[in-house]
Amino acid sequence: MATAVRQSGLHKPPRQQGNYRFPPGLQRNLLWFALRKLRPANPILLFQDLADTYGDIAHYKLGHHHIVFLNHPEYIREVLVVQNDNFIKERTVQRTKMLLGEGMITSEGVAHRAQRLAAQPAFHRQRIAEYAGVMVEEAALIRDSWRAGEQRDIAADMMHLTLNVVARTLFATDLRQEVYELAAAINRIMGLYNFLIMLPAAEWLVHFRPPGLAAFVRARNRIDAVVYRMIDAHRKSGLDRGSLLDLMLAASPANDKASRQSLRDQVITIFLAGYETVANALSWTWYLLSQNPDCETNFHNEVDRVLGGRLPAFEGVSRLRYTENVMAESLRLYPPAWAMGRYARNDFALGDYFLPARTTVLISQFITHRDPRYFPDPLRFDPERFSAEAKAQRRKFTYFPFGAGVRQCIGESLAWMEGVLILSTLAQKWKLRLVPGHRVEAQPLITLRPKYGMRMQVEPR
Ligand code: HEM
Repeated sequence: MATAVRQSGLHKPPRQQGNYRFPPGLQRNLLWFALRKLRPANPILLFQDLADTYGDIAHYKLGHHHIVFLNHPEYIREVLVVQNDNFIKERTVQRTKMLLGEGMITSEGVAHRAQRLAAQPAFHRQRIAEYAGVMVEEAALIRDSWRAGEQRDIAADMMHLTLNVVARTLFATDLRQEVYELAAAINRIMGLYNFLIMLPAAEWLVHFRPPGLAAFVRARNRIDAVVYRMIDAHRKSGLDRGSLLDLMLAASPANDKASRQSLRDQVITIFLAGYETVANALSWTWYLLSQNPDCETNFHNEVDRVLGGRLPAFEGVSRLRYTENVMAESLRLYPPAWAMGRYARNDFALGDYFLPARTTVLISQFITHRDPRYFPDPLRFDPERFSAEAKAQRRKFTYFPFGAGVRQCIGESLAWMEGVLILSTLAQKWKLRLVPGHRVEAQPLITLRPKYGMRMQVEPR
């Protein structure tokens, strides 16, 4: 894990301070860079710069706070798996809590284990197989509503599609018109996200609702209203459809304010985690296919050969191998979960370094997935990187779109199946072409979104 450090006044080499040994990194506090506007607000550019300059591990400070950025599979494994007990998400997800509350993504320890255990049955293979029919039904609905030659924001379409899927599969609810309300409110919050994370003490200020935060609260209230309607309707019906929502209701029988709030947090977490990520993955995949016609032809050939004009079903998913590889390669280049953070409870060692408690550790799928050491010619879109042989040779912890260790994504199998079913259903009829002049830029918010949407023309195949 050798690291060559550029020599200049801005950088500092590895450094001993008391018991601690810090990795090389930025000489000055990050606030200094921020104030001098030397670092753009885009954290991906900062991470890329750290990786290019320092390689595997870089250290910097934000105020008094130590931060290390990791870009090596061994370090990543240490934090997510080997020393996982020493790391919590708290603080790194503090701002997300303003929206998600204490759901599975943000909770810790006993509360997290209880939530994960309660939800687990909804993600079992057998249950997931039952969701396939709904996914294909929803995809076919949108497929048949498109018209040849029309231009659409495919990012918005994918959001509505995956919202309907998650509502019907995991929450046994048909949202229909409410989908637009929900998606609009979540878009509003995403639009405010950069502002929220830059704003000091936003969690506290939110109670006073200054401009900007008032818009956040309004959007959050709209989301809450939909979620509470859903919870109340389920409770009132008294029916147990075996959905995730029923499991959550069973684990939280009380109907007092705190229990309702907790239920709301759990529901909203799965909603957001379960649709935003998949929708973004699909939007980026349509874009990448439109830019790589040879891969698109291979994909179409497989869809035609395997499905022979029939709609896909759960049993056929494993035969749509190339389609899955297309999605895998898309998740490499545009990982919807583009970075993860952890917070150290105690002092810890990483390789040659020894770091203090309360250090924040940052890891970025976006950066590691594009490292030429692990993915030669990294910007080339090549689904063959995910052939069984190529995968067997690849070093572990160089590709982790779904995270790793105990906090690994609970929805991973569901996401793969949903992606493959939706891609293959839509591609039976259509190919999508980027509208000339449409700007495509990745915007790292809570997820990696196409900043200007994805305007594409629908063309018959
Ligand atoms: C392409 C789609 C998806 C991607 C890229 C993705 C990515 C991730 C990643 C990286 C994590 C770990 C975060 C961390 O350790 O800090 C995670 C956790 C999680 N994901 Fe996903 N996810 C996807 C789809 C889904 C779906 C479909 C669901 C549910 C329906 C879901 C629910 C969750 C939940 C609840 C967690 C928290 C798990 C825990 O902390 O125990 N995700 N996801």
